[in-house]
Amino acid sequence: MKNSLGSVNYSCNYLGLIVAFVMLWLSGTSTACPSGCTCSVDQSRVEESIGNSYLNYDNAGSSEDERGLREVYCINKGLTSPLVPDTIPNDTYYLDLSENNIVVLSTYSFQGLRLLQQLNLSGNGMERIQSRAFVGLQTLEELDLSRNNLGSVNNAMFEGLGFLKKLNLSHNSISTIPASAFERLWSLEKIDFQSSVLRCNCDLKWIVKWEKNNNIRIMENTVCQSPPTLIGHQVHKLKKGDLICGHPIDLLTFTLSPSGDQIVFIGDTTPLACQSTLVDDSLEITWWKNGNLMVEGPDAIITESTQRQEGLKTSRLMLFISPDSNNQLWNIECKVSSSTGSEKKGVLLKILDGSTLYCLPTSSSNKKMTITNSSTALSIAKKVEVAVSDASSINDAKAVLFVGRFMEKFIRYLHSRGGSSMMNIASSMMEVSPDILLESQIEDKSCSK
Ligand SMILES: *[C@@H]1O[C@H](CO)[C@@H](O)[C@H](O)[C@H]1NC(C)=O
Ligand SMILES: *[C@@H]1O[C@H](CO)[C@@H](O)[C@H](O)[C@H]1NC(C)=O
Ligand SMILES: *[C@@H]1O[C@H](CO)[C@@H](O)[C@H](O)[C@H]1NC(C)=O
Ligand SMILES: *[C@@H]1O[C@H](CO)[C@@H](O)[C@H](O)[C@H]1NC(C)=O
Repeated sequence: MKNSLGSVNYSCNYLGLIVAFVMLWLSGTSTACPSGCTCSVDQSRVEESIGNSYLNYDNAGSSEDERGLREVYCINKGLTSPLVPDTIPNDTYYLDLSENNIVVLSTYSFQGLRLLQQLNLSGNGMERIQSRAFVGLQTLEELDLSRNNLGSVNNAMFEGLGFLKKLNLSHNSISTIPASAFERLWSLEKIDFQSSVLRCNCDLKWIVKWEKNNNIRIMENTVCQSPPTLIGHQVHKLKKGDLICGHPIDLLTFTLSPSGDQIVFIGDTTPLACQSTLVDDSLEITWWKNGNLMVEGPDAIITESTQRQEGLKTSRLMLFISPDSNNQLWNIECKVSSSTGSEKKGVLLKILDGSTLYCLPTSSSNKKMTITNSSTALSIAKKVEVAVSDASSINDAKAVLFVGRFMEKFIRYLHSRGGSSMMNIASSMMEVSPDILLESQIEDKSCSK
């Protein structure tokens, strides 16, 4: 071992230099063990996976001679990222990164580890896994994500794990799981999602069928923590009829803002807020889009706060409207659940494409209003505000289009002033009838040519 060099009792300077060179050279080769980590090679794995070609390697040699499948242990090294691809050898089949500090697992964190079969990310205080984080791990069979701070899971984060058989999500902060979360895990056999906040209500109803149809084993220690009638019940024994949402709860305060239907444009960032009386500590606010539980991702950010003094809980949802949602109608609902029941409120978002050039609000002339600086923008805003103040009577699709385009341009010139005009315009436009909105879309296509 290279460590034995260090124990030689010489006090020659050049020896230290040689050691340094050897270390440097080792770290530059693809098979070197990452500094501070422990590595070993499993000869049996070499034979079974690669065949006879490497059988003549020198088992007693130093690490540069070692070939084959490798176990890498980087436990409790204060790592904030997985060290892939530069440092973890690409012939690793077992990688233990437990007890580190990988709080956010980034997209494509493990590319190049084609042979990895087991990955341990337990005890990292991990709060977020970005979508496609595990892409490239085409032979991964076992993933340990236990003892982290994950609040939710979704299918985008598990993309590329088609061979995963065992998934450990225990001891995170998972209260519910969306029905689509594991749909890409075709090979899954065993799962553990034991959690101190696991809620066994109607949101988890899908799991009964999923478990049965896919022959999944949900580990016995995965038990319900609420509602009171199901505390301690093993999830794998639940029946569909057990998973109910109870009676509506009596909430003194329950608001969703905006409260009325909205028009939003592609490229917009749309903030929504939901506030509820904090009836008890099990109270949870979740967001739903067209009936599906929403989780954080590139197009949605959810933040939560509790106002104990006022006895309130607030959840904020920031939606980024991407081009592929053009023309869609979203029913966004805020759901408040406690151990005794739940309550819902919803709002419709109509998504329009405001990116093409606008036509005129009236078909009588061909002038365009151009915004050149913030003062002209402000005066135009005032005009538009007056013009659309009774938007329910707007029956011209072009007008809608114009206002949409105007708002988009206006934002660029908005320096603290003009905000109230914008708010008024936006709220007026919610009154426009859906037919007109649709027509304005068609109009948009034709007039931009
Ligand atoms: C590992 O990397 C080396 C050098 O880039 C490459 O030749 C080899 O094919 C890779 N092995 C695997 C299993 O990806
Ligand atoms: C992952 O690492 C933790 C802590 O080092 C250990 O307790 C656990 O058994 C490991 N998981 C697997 C699947 O080996
Ligand atoms: C999942 O991880 C937890 C904590 O590390 C452990 O107690 C449990 O046995 C693991 N579950 C499985 C199925 O290995
Ligand atoms: C803004 O543009 C208008 C018309 O183009 C011009 O008359 C005015 O002086 C400009 N104001 C500023 C502050 O540049």
